[in-house]
Parts: sequence; C-alpha cells; structure tokens
Amino acid sequence: MAILVLGGAGYIGSHTVYRLIEAGRDVVVADNLQTGFKEAVHPKARFYQLDIRDKGALDELFRKEKIEGVIHFAASSQVGESMTNPLKYYNNNLYGTMVLLQSMVDNGIDKIVFSSTAATYGEPERVPILEGDKTFPTNCYGQTKLAMEQMMGWVSRAHGLRYVALRYFNACGAHVSGKIGEAHDPETHLLPIILQVPLGQRKEVSIFGDDYPTKDGTCIRDYIHVTDLAEAHILALDYLVAGGENNVFNLGNGVGFTVKEVIDIAREVTGHPIPAKIAERRAGDPAQLIASSQKAIDVLGWKPQYNDLYTIVETAWNWHRTHPHGFKEE
Ligand code: UFG
Repeated sequence: MAILVLGGAGYIGSHTVYRLIEAGRDVVVADNLQTGFKEAVHPKARFYQLDIRDKGALDELFRKEKIEGVIHFAASSQVGESMTNPLKYYNNNLYGTMVLLQSMVDNGIDKIVFSSTAATYGEPERVPILEGDKTFPTNCYGQTKLAMEQMMGWVSRAHGLRYVALRYFNACGAHVSGKIGEAHDPETHLLPIILQVPLGQRKEVSIFGDDYPTKDGTCIRDYIHVTDLAEAHILALDYLVAGGENNVFNLGNGVGFTVKEVIDIAREVTGHPIPAKIAERRAGDPAQLIASSQKAIDVLGWKPQYNDLYTIVETAWNWHRTHPHGFKEE
C-alpha cells in the first residue's frame, strides 16, 4: 500500500517524501505545481500533477493506486497574502480540503495527517503553548487551518475517518543531502531572507520591530528543522494505522530565539557581517511563539534530531549557497 502526499513538491512536503522513501515506503505525490517544484519530488515517488479541488482527478488517483493514508500539505501558506486575498485561502485551503475529504470518503480512505500551524493560536496566553490552549487566529491563514481541523472533526464523526493535525512552529533548514531545500517565491521567511544577504541578493535584513517585550526587543520564535517535521508525519501516520484516535500535536523545539539571535547565528555560520536595520513592526506578529511538544514526544515517540539552531542554519546555508535561485536554474 502506498502513502499519498498531497503538496509533495512543496517545502515541507518534499522533505517528508524524502524521509518516507528513505524509510522504504511506497510513495505517491500529487501537486498542482503552483508553488511547488517538480525538481523537489523524489525520483522514486510516483508523481501526479493535479489540483485537490479537482474531485474527478482525485477519484481517478484513488482508483488507480492502493492508498493506505494521506499526508496533506496542499494549501496556501502566506500570512500576509491571506490578509489581502482571504478568499484565495478559503478556496484553496478550505474548499480544497472539503473536496479531498469527500473523495476520501467516497473511496474508503480513512486516515489523514495534515499541516496545521502555530497560527491557529493567534496571540498566545502563555508560552510554551499547549495544544489545549485557546485558539484565536489573528490572520486568515491560521483561521482556515483551524477550520480545516474542525472540518476533519465533523467528517470523522459522520464517516469514521481519523486525522492527526500537526501544528508546526517555524519550519526551517534543508535536507542534509543538499538536494532539496526552502524555495518560496516571493520569500517572506526570516532565515532564507537573512541568507540572501551573503548570497549577494539583498543588501541588508530588516528587523520588523525592536520594541517587543522580549530580552532584546525583537520577536521570539521556535525554529524547527524541516526533517524533524517530516519525521513527525511518518510517526503520525503510523499512529493512525495502529488505531490511534483523532489528535492534534504541536511541533517545535521548545526553545525560543529572537530575530537578532537568528541573525547572529547566520553571521557565524556564513562568516558574512549581514548588515541589519530596524524597521516597523509587521502587522499581526505575536511577540513570542514557543511550543510545548511534550505530547508529540510522549504519544508519537517523536525525537527531534536538530535541536541546535547553528546546525539547522548550516543545513539551510548548504542548500542556499549551492542553489542560489532555488530550483530555478539561472
Ligand atoms: N522577520 C523579520 N524580518 C524579515 C522577515 C521576518 O524581522 O525580513 C521576523 C518576523 O517579524 C517574525 C520572525 O522574523 O518575528 C519570523 O518570521 P517568519 O515570517 O519567518 O515566520 P512567522 O513566525 O511569521 O511565520 C511562521 C510560519 C507561518 C505560520 C506562523 C505562525 O511561516 O506559516 O509562523 O505564527 F503561520
């Protein structure tokens, strides 16, 4: 039986496909290639170019392949864009998941692991954040992810499908092989933006606000290596296969770094001075997001391997310096 990875040509999806193949699993990838890259798909995975909103294409795939469970990354994920174009997020994320779940129900596929986010919490009441803490998203992206979790809950009650939602904190880093890594267009994430400076693609980094109530005034985030996230998906699917009930897990390292600390580590790793300037706060940024991942550790047996940000940044730098234009050859 194969595992279907939707959005397997994207950043976290492609790393999960690599881990699955490394673990000897049979993998089918589907992606519409709107933001993903065909080059990121592991050559041993069977690839289908399709959009999850196309129920006919999904039904055909489920008839053709013997699918044991689905890992679902196929969604839009830019916080800023979700605020200016919320309907795109309702369409791709919520409507897309609705079509997918209908197709899974119709074809008797009853296990799904999917990408959720720390953005479901909004401004946290306390850190580290626990899964039972209040969810009050401050952006439309987080809202659609929370609604996707809830949709799975209702579909589960009606049709017996089971799900695991994985709430990622700040995904970063790249596969150790250097073959795949982060490639967004436009890039909005802190670490790849920092690394554009030593690559000569940007003069300096803008630090969005230095008047937050943190030790150096800049925002604190919990950075987690993409391969550790990938591993958690495999454990979550195995948990469902073993009969595990619906569940939600945070995935982070449980350690917070300020924006200034991340820049300092990147300076050490790259040997470049990486000039930085203070800019306005970015709307909607919580001051601090740190996960408690104790539940994933206890229930799934998850053991993050990359708990040192220096090593995480090294893997990212290894990818970016060898692929300065991502998957595009220029
Ligand atoms: N930042 C800068 N300068 C930049 C880019 C980012 O100072 O040029 C700061 C941000 O203000 C933030 C931190 O760096 O404080 C991290 O920003 P990212 O954009 O890399 O990540 P976010 O924490 O905003 O977003 C991440 C995920 C989202 C998820 C969100 C949960 O990328 O998918 O966490 O809040 F929704």
